[in-house]
Amino acid sequence: MKSEEEGDRLTENELANLLFTIMAAGNETTTSLISSGTKLLLTHPDEYRKLVDDPGLIGNAVDEILRYEAPIQNSFMRIAAHDTELGGEEVVEGELVAALVGAANRDPAVFDDPDRFLVDRRNAEEHLSFGSGIHFCLGRRVGLQSGMVALASLIRRFPKLELAEETRWRKTIPTRRLDRLDIVTGA
Ligand code: HEM
Repeated sequence: MKSEEEGDRLTENELANLLFTIMAAGNETTTSLISSGTKLLLTHPDEYRKLVDDPGLIGNAVDEILRYEAPIQNSFMRIAAHDTELGGEEVVEGELVAALVGAANRDPAVFDDPDRFLVDRRNAEEHLSFGSGIHFCLGRRVGLQSGMVALASLIRRFPKLELAEETRWRKTIPTRRLDRLDIVTGA
């Protein structure tokens, strides 16, 4: 409540709104990263083995998970401030535009063999899963760190983790997340 800019302070309403945004934006996305990441590692045993053998790969692996299964598949709508052209398409001032992050993350012009999940991918961090521009994710570091700690701990504690039968994706847009992921922890 004490922070101010040129005498301007947040009202109680603005503060409550800000807190709600931070909690909502940070919760579902990070949960999705951890659950999708667990599923991806368990359905790609060679990649899982690479991480067990070299835990230092965890940061790159988290970026690769975010690239492969972006928790937010398309960014919130933007309104074109002026006429322009995007990827060969004409965009008229005032038009609504949505960037398809999930598709951009599999762009073969940026990522070699984009449909492969590789924890040691050279440029995994070039994904757009935290957005871009003035609305770039405020919590990127927290999201990355949470994913790294959760997945590294899981692998360390349960190196023989396996997928059980049931996996169910939630049928929603723009978020991509699992509703159910059953795992067997092994010995
Ligand atoms: C893996 C985790 C996360 C992912 C994938 C993610 C993704 C995103 C994306 C794509 C945007 C941009 C939306 C747009 O362009 O319209 C965004 C914005 C935002 N994120 Fe995250 N986020 C994550 C974690 C977090 C965390 C942990 C926090 C808070 C602690 C957070 C707070 C925010 C806020 C406040 C914004 C709005 C920024 C603005 O409009 O200026 N995010 N996030």
